[in-house]
Amino acid sequence: MVAAFAVEPGPGPNPGNHKAMIDLIETVAEPLVDAFRRPITYLRVSVTDRCNLRCVYCMPEAGLPWIPKPDVLSYEEVAEIVRAAARIGVRSIRLTGGEPLIRRNLDRLVAMIAAIPGIDDIALSTNGLLLADQAPALAAAGLRRVNVSLDTLQDERFTAIARRPGLARTLAGIDAAIAAGLGPVKINCVLMRGTNDDEIEAFAELTRKRAVHIRFIEVMPVTENVDLQRNTWISSDEVLERLGTVGALHAVPNPHGNGPARTFAYDDAPGTVGVISPLAHDYCETCNRVRLSADGRLKLCLFGDNMIDLRTPLRTGGGQAAIESILRNSMHIKPERHHLQLGEASSQMRAFSEIGG
Ligand code: 5AD
Ligand code: SF4
Repeated sequence: MVAAFAVEPGPGPNPGNHKAMIDLIETVAEPLVDAFRRPITYLRVSVTDRCNLRCVYCMPEAGLPWIPKPDVLSYEEVAEIVRAAARIGVRSIRLTGGEPLIRRNLDRLVAMIAAIPGIDDIALSTNGLLLADQAPALAAAGLRRVNVSLDTLQDERFTAIARRPGLARTLAGIDAAIAAGLGPVKINCVLMRGTNDDEIEAFAELTRKRAVHIRFIEVMPVTENVDLQRNTWISSDEVLERLGTVGALHAVPNPHGNGPARTFAYDDAPGTVGVISPLAHDYCETCNRVRLSADGRLKLCLFGDNMIDLRTPLRTGGGQAAIESILRNSMHIKPERHHLQLGEASSQMRAFSEIGG
């Protein structure tokens, strides 16, 4: 019988392939799965709790009691933890803050993480103020994508919400990110009734002109904003209804990855609109993430109190094995879901600036 397809001889031994194979075997040995069998593949790393803005829903005008500098992990320490996480199945890293770009030479950390076997995606969440300057270096270091926070397209309103000016710089940051290949660029817009909800349609129009992906986020309760949250919260269902009045929407897959957004597009639009709805429709069932604070504590649920100290074992010489085993054991206490109820004002959660949203 004649074989339908000739079998090509293999390329033969190749030291590069061999190394890649060992990396693969090492990194997929026992992937991290929590007590509810959710594979944990995504680690959000806050590199600082400080910020160059003071968004009203996030922190008080005077700022917060910042983490003392000596407690903040060095890039080498962050890389140690990422290496341990990668060995047990983490594949994607997102750098967050506070504002991550105020940490000096963040591209150095990106390059260190990009070199870790098993990590195949590095993204950044930023307010965009410093992005225009840094986008090329970040992209060259191995950053793949950025999410930019932008709550308004109006100059004065930006200054009112962020309590500091910056709209032009943020917009320039978005352009620079697209030019540097850091797309698809997602724009996070926290909606507050009576403050910026009259811009839903303007943001929607933007996605018809440009390849930007707007995600409207329900304002969430943190220690600092309990009243604001209660008074301005808008459900994502209402937002979707309003988006429907702009034009016919069809559901589309999330641009890159399977995060918590429900995503839609207008016919022929290069961009997409989406809603992120931790309160009205939580997405705990498919939660694939854990968070690392700038001072080296692991947070298993955005809305939970539980924080596990990784800095002490790291600084007292525990090494990779200790970190890896703590990560593994923590999975047993990752909660199944958060218990925040709609309309409930929780004060159990400190500002997102501590943990990066
Ligand atoms: N509710 C909703 N989103 C928030 N963010 C910060 N604080 C809150 C809050 N209380 C958003 C930021 C940023 C992302 C990391 O989290 O705007 O887009
Ligand atoms: Fe800074 Fe982001 Fe908080 Fe605004 S929401 S103050 S940009 S950390």
